[in-house]
Amino acid sequence: MAVRKIIRMGHPALRRPARDVAREDLGTAALHRLVADMIDTLHDYGGIGLAAPQINEGIRLAVVEIPGSPTRYGQLTEQPLTICVNPRVEVLDAATEGHWEGCLSVPGLRGYVERPRGIHVSFVNLRGEEQRIAAHGFLATVFQHEFDHLDGKLYIDHIDDPHKLVFEEEYARYVLPLEEPTPK
Ligand code: NI
Repeated sequence: MAVRKIIRMGHPALRRPARDVAREDLGTAALHRLVADMIDTLHDYGGIGLAAPQINEGIRLAVVEIPGSPTRYGQLTEQPLTICVNPRVEVLDAATEGHWEGCLSVPGLRGYVERPRGIHVSFVNLRGEEQRIAAHGFLATVFQHEFDHLDGKLYIDHIDDPHKLVFEEEYARYVLPLEEPTPK
């Protein structure tokens, strides 16, 4: 296991669509090692989600884990470590909800993005079992943000109002005091 370098906006690999993970690769030591590296990297950088393209691995794999303790997004509803292979999103509730997103590949910035507020997430786990999760609110945003990486997209692509792309320090100083309490 190892902490891997997260590539940043401007690296062309972040803009390439990733390829499906082949079913026969699910049980392999190489894939398990890669997942272990992603988890180590997520923890080391203090994030809540990481997609394989962010460590320059062009496959459809993402991990999400929201700890019960405060995160870089404040105190959030806990989501246990979830390893998503070949995920798909189905919109349950197309009404949008906006959140201030950040990205380990776009360090130092926050941007306000509106996305569908209710989704079903389908994927296979490392044992090849089909999984399905309903996600609402901020968690729905986290999954959509991570899966965007698998299509070569970044959250900044969804920012409608460029005034709502700010540095983290200025976010904490000028935006956060005006925001509603963090979603629970
Ligand atoms: Ni990201």
